[in-house]
Amino acid sequence: QKREIILAIETSCDETAAAVLADGQDILANVVASQIKIHQKYGGVVPEIASRHHLEQVNLVVDLALQEAGITFDDLTAIAVTYGPGLVGALLVGVSTAKALAYALKLPLVGVNHIEGHIYANWLGNDSILFPVVCLVVSGGHTALVEMQGHGRYRLLGQTLDDAAGEAYDKVARAMGLGYPGGPLLESLAKEGDEKAIALPRAWLGDDNYDFSFSGLKSAVLNYLNRAAQKGEEVNKADLAASFQASVVEVLVEKTVKAARVQGVKTVLLAGGVAANSSLRKYLHERCSEENLELLYPPFHYCTDNAAMIACAGYYRYKMGERADWYLNAVPNLKL
Ligand code: KG4
Repeated sequence: QKREIILAIETSCDETAAAVLADGQDILANVVASQIKIHQKYGGVVPEIASRHHLEQVNLVVDLALQEAGITFDDLTAIAVTYGPGLVGALLVGVSTAKALAYALKLPLVGVNHIEGHIYANWLGNDSILFPVVCLVVSGGHTALVEMQGHGRYRLLGQTLDDAAGEAYDKVARAMGLGYPGGPLLESLAKEGDEKAIALPRAWLGDDNYDFSFSGLKSAVLNYLNRAAQKGEEVNKADLAASFQASVVEVLVEKTVKAARVQGVKTVLLAGGVAANSSLRKYLHERCSEENLELLYPPFHYCTDNAAMIACAGYYRYKMGERADWYLNAVPNLKL
């Protein structure tokens, strides 16, 4: 039987990525050209620079993915592409490339939501997940708790009212002079600190509330740093990192576990760049075991932006008969 092979393209932020996936499961290629080094000197992603680099990289990345997979364009079944949410100029590079390829090769085109892609990283190599599930999506741009009743069927339980979890990590790391992207740097510093050393707030936002807020916590850290600077006191950065991380992780974990319990689901999924955080994984794992919940999360390198996860979400959408037309456009604030 002929394999169904999806080529996926992802350019929503600062990674130019292409992947080839067979039958929704076998990753034949996963190429990621990261722009992190280019944006590092600005302390964050500069949208216009990101678009230009995507334009330079995208064809090379697609060629490399086909080479790595050992296939040609003729072997493809469909093209999937991220069309939102993300930076509009960055998204447009991927969308235009995917449309041009699909048109020239006479292949079906499937539009994929980037957040859905993060969630579907959990299906890479695992097609036996039983619905319903509750999924915590935590990345640089998004923080949301979602209940999934089936493929492509989402109910938003709560989301961040201000900063995303990864964004909070990045901003606090920047204030502490750790560099960019701050998440992984702050996490390794936190390993050497005492999470009980500094009392920082937790934003619970009320009893049955699944929304998140990290800006108060961020301000508390900034105030702490400013006060110390005014008094000329040395800050124990490892303790501050550990205390900040404990505050973020506790709220994320407790709200997720509660949502799973209230919705009566048996499985919890973790997704997005911050899912690479080992403290979040460990604490969520402990709490899920206590509550008899099954916890699934993708391998580290499929947590941060990549195209394999887009191919996987695209495959399930393709199987459901979804097709994009030639009017497919970038949608910067696309909702799930
Ligand atoms: O999923 P992703 O690559 O991009 C978005 O779609 O937003 O996530 C990137 C975010 C950044 O904010 C980064 O600091 C954060 O994920 N991140 C981490 C870790 N690794 C990446 N945050 C905390 N701990 C980590 N180990």
